[in-house]
Amino acid sequence: MSTQSLRKDHKLIEKVLQALDATIKLLKDGKQIPEQILLPTIDFTQNFTDVCHHGKEEEVLFPALEKAGMPTHMGPIRMMIVDHQRTKAIAEKIQEASTKYLETSDSADLILALEVYVQHVTEHLWKENNRLFMMAEARLNHTAKDVDKNLEDVEEKKLKELGKTRSDYETLADDLEKSVSEIN
Ligand SMILES: [Fe+2]
Ligand SMILES: [Fe+2]
Repeated sequence: MSTQSLRKDHKLIEKVLQALDATIKLLKDGKQIPEQILLPTIDFTQNFTDVCHHGKEEEVLFPALEKAGMPTHMGPIRMMIVDHQRTKAIAEKIQEASTKYLETSDSADLILALEVYVQHVTEHLWKENNRLFMMAEARLNHTAKDVDKNLEDVEEKKLKELGKTRSDYETLADDLEKSVSEIN
């Protein structure tokens, strides 16, 4: 199936979104959120989600769909590309707000950036899981094997450039979940 690896990424991203949701609640309760939670959050949102996962979609899935007759300058693919740009911009806001929070303990910007990020990415994943990927599965049936192989190759290339492995990010997500749950 041509979207299997992307759906697997979505599960990992959702796990991090849940940890971020819990972080928002903690910040609102006035709890102190340590660097050990904020730095992996920045790494994951900027590198795994943006560089690796969006790279796989933009360099493999969208071009394969274009070949299968879907336009990329309008319609669902264009919408997804605009969503990715916004995801990247909000992730940068999280980084700026984290720096400010760690320096001043003022959590207002960080809470806002995290809330906007969780909502935006949750909606984006829903659109892909329930709309775009359904279309992709139907249209790319005949080339699913090639698409799978290309997704695997781009993932490997992106992670290598980052000096990371997939299991690093799986561990990061588990650790994040655990660290957040231990704050009280
Ligand atoms: Fe996407
Ligand atoms: Fe995606």
